[in-house]
Amino acid sequence: MQIRLETSPIEKLAVDALAAIAFELEETASQRHPDPEIAAQSGWLAELRASGEFTGKVYEMAILHRPQGTSAKRLIVIGGGKRDKFSSAEARRIGGALVRGVKSKGVRTIALLLDGMGAAEHAEAVVEGAVLGAWEADKYKSDPKKKEKHLDEFVLLIPGGDAPLLQPVIDQGRTIAEAQNLTRDLVNEPPNKLLPQTLAQAAQAMSAEFGLECEVLDGAAMAALGMGALLGVAQGSSNPPFLIVIKYRPATPVGQDHLALIGKGVTFDTGGISIKPADGMEKMKYDMAGAAAVLGAMRAIAQLKPALPVTGYVPTVENMLNGNAQRPGDIVTSLAGKTIEVLNTDAEGRLILADAITYAHRHGATHMVDAATLTGAIGIALGHHNIGAFTNNQDFFDRLLAASRAAGEKAWQMPMDEEYKDYLKSAFADLPNIGGRHGGSITAAWFLREFADPTPWVHLDIAATAWLDDAKAWLSKGPTGVAVRTFVQLALDWSRK
Ligand code: BES
Ligand code: MN
Ligand code: ZN
Repeated sequence: MQIRLETSPIEKLAVDALAAIAFELEETASQRHPDPEIAAQSGWLAELRASGEFTGKVYEMAILHRPQGTSAKRLIVIGGGKRDKFSSAEARRIGGALVRGVKSKGVRTIALLLDGMGAAEHAEAVVEGAVLGAWEADKYKSDPKKKEKHLDEFVLLIPGGDAPLLQPVIDQGRTIAEAQNLTRDLVNEPPNKLLPQTLAQAAQAMSAEFGLECEVLDGAAMAALGMGALLGVAQGSSNPPFLIVIKYRPATPVGQDHLALIGKGVTFDTGGISIKPADGMEKMKYDMAGAAAVLGAMRAIAQLKPALPVTGYVPTVENMLNGNAQRPGDIVTSLAGKTIEVLNTDAEGRLILADAITYAHRHGATHMVDAATLTGAIGIALGHHNIGAFTNNQDFFDRLLAASRAAGEKAWQMPMDEEYKDYLKSAFADLPNIGGRHGGSITAAWFLREFADPTPWVHLDIAATAWLDDAKAWLSKGPTGVAVRTFVQLALDWSRK
């Protein structure tokens, strides 16, 4: 799908569909659209509103065929919700809902009028939404009839807009959303097609394409370093583990900071000997969503070039249960030297992340963020709408939260009181890998913190936000690519502070 900016007058545009945003009516002022061509249709809109068919509720759509006064074949109004609540988050979803709403209807080209809509402010989000909305999880459908149709072109129509100002904004939106779609492609791969080795190859290919340095440590290299926590998880699989390191280095770095992005890359999580129930186990292919988010973010960072060194660390393993699998009761020695009693082999993510965090710290990270599908408990606590976010440093956390808000990926700060740390008691080693029944996401975060301290660190538990069980109007079912936009925004904001 091409994305194009059009600043010429509206009548000239020959597209299959021309869309405009209409808000819920305020009680007093009647709503007149700023554009006369659209206003010419306002009798239609007024009738729709009177009939209750269109109220302006956010993402609601109505389509008029062969509208008068434009060269477009269809006129679409899409609800913007309450005018004073309209933000980039709504703009992003409108971009997605439009694409998804029309692509099966034979529409190949669509234009969205952003005139008088805070065009510069919302253009990036609309483009992101459109590119994300176009993505489908249909790679392995072989019947072409069952494949989703695709749009050829999405036009941002901003009559009289300042093209030199708007074009870079639009390009940035596309870059970020395409990176997020790479993340979704990787997460969508079935677990027989995406092994730790495949993920490493994907990282190398992406790095070569976008001018990043990529180094892959194999099992022997990790054994030589002493990554006993990671290797303990990997030993139950015939598919060997890797630690992927992807480096972005700016031409002229500003300051001394060095950001590490760390992603959990369990390509399939059976639970190991503490095996998971059969029901829904197929979903555990998305246990590498944090890793895929790091790859996607590194790709966008390579293109957008913030003035901050960023390194991606991706520990990747398969949590399986062959005859050599890790047992409950095993004690492993982490890279940091702390011993860990493995009380539950299904709490594997924290084991591989612990060694990656230590490694990142030893390689100069001054700030670390990890993204991990770490606990089912985070969905119990927060549902599917917020990432669970944890930290050992409030200043760093506040910067990350600002980035997540700007990027439209909601995060909610979870408590990290010292009392919770006491849930992690092992009779035989320095630490157990699980706490008790309660506060499961918090004890998982505390476990990671034992390896992150004292480096400023944020942990994003994306177990409940990385996968969408039911399609939304603006996004398909399946992988969401969450955390990519927050990562990229954080890196970009850094250079601007
Ligand atoms: N990968 C899972 C967490 C998960 C659950 C991700 C549901 C996505 C959806 C993780 O490795 C895990 O198994 N966690 C256990 C921890 C428990 C053994 C302390 C869990 O959440 O049950
Ligand atoms: Mn697990
Ligand atoms: Zn897992």
